[in-house]
Amino acid sequence: MSISARIRNFCQGHALQAPILLGPMAGACPVGLSIAVANAGGMGACAGLMLAPDAILKWMADFRAGTSGPVQINLWVPDPPPHRDAGRERAMRQFLGVWGPPVSDGDADTPLIDYATQFAALMAAKPDAASSVMGLFGEAEVRALKAAGIRWIAIVSTVRDALAAERAGADAIAVQGFEAGGHRASFASETAEAEAVGLLSLLPAVVDAVRLPVIAAGGIADGRTLAAALVLGASAVQVGTGFLRAPEAGIAPAWAEALGHTLPEQTTLTRAFSGRAGRGIATDYVKASAAPDAPAPAPYPVQRGMTRPMREEALRTGDLQRMQAWAGQSAALARAEPAAAILKRLWDEARPLLPA
Ligand SMILES: Cc1cc2nc3c(=O)[nH]c(=O)nc-3n(C[C@H](O)[C@H](O)[C@H](O)COP(=O)(O)O)c2cc1C
Repeated sequence: MSISARIRNFCQGHALQAPILLGPMAGACPVGLSIAVANAGGMGACAGLMLAPDAILKWMADFRAGTSGPVQINLWVPDPPPHRDAGRERAMRQFLGVWGPPVSDGDADTPLIDYATQFAALMAAKPDAASSVMGLFGEAEVRALKAAGIRWIAIVSTVRDALAAERAGADAIAVQGFEAGGHRASFASETAEAEAVGLLSLLPAVVDAVRLPVIAAGGIADGRTLAAALVLGASAVQVGTGFLRAPEAGIAPAWAEALGHTLPEQTTLTRAFSGRAGRGIATDYVKASAAPDAPAPAPYPVQRGMTRPMREEALRTGDLQRMQAWAGQSAALARAEPAAAILKRLWDEARPLLPA
């Protein structure tokens, strides 16, 4: 199939005017950003991780009030319960106390929102697509999605996980290269760094291995990177960092400003914020956490709970060096423009680069 036919098929099947999906970004994709992207011809994204069921329903009601465009709801498939280590957590609390307010014993215990009730809210919200990350939807969930006509986008970061997603009934595979900002989509937390593969290798390997349409994510933030992903076999792309400087994203000004001049090598994979590996700006806190004498991070979500006081204080004071400043390796390509202008520019720049 020609590149243009492949893109056209995907866009027609998903009611898109351009093959661009907003990457779901927990804590950084308010509904206004998704409305702007969907009204400009892309797909919006509700990142469900930190939303209670009511908030998911409210988000979708607000989205539908602002646009008739397509949207996905994204859920994190939970990890097994974390292994707790009191000595390690004590050392981490002391370390974090130097970087921010004192960390109390209870901070480590902050519970996650119940996944089953989030999934029920997803079903009730009836998005066009549901995306899974950190694992696959279960059999009963897949049956429910199919019965409701909701497309399942499985986010993966290896060929192995792409094949598992295809076997489990996914409708499309979103492939996340190691360039991507935010948490790595690894099904097992432990393998996130060892299996970090760049999109240039991962994307064609997944395209060759599966029959499903493939969505490329990681490092795509201008027309060149978009066209390259489409030439490599993607039917569409998912963009995260490239939208973070849009005013509709509403992220902290210090973070938005820093993205504009962060070189690829100035981002790094770190577990220092949440216990799961994610790519962010190599700030003072991130670098100090990687020092040989720094305590090892606790597993997700224990580490996330313990870093909350520091992260909140950093946001309050505008201190980038202690902020959870997620960023993909193409951060410097992100422009401070309205989301619709970003989407339009990406597609306008990419089209002439594609074979006729
Ligand atoms: C701030 C931030 C938060 C993110 N949160 C999520 C999330 O909740 N769920 C998810 O599947 N991916 C999440 N991601 C990954 C994005 O959806 C997307 O795959 C990634 O940003 C693509 O790479 P790029 O940043 O280079 O464009 C997040 C990324 C960022 C930058």
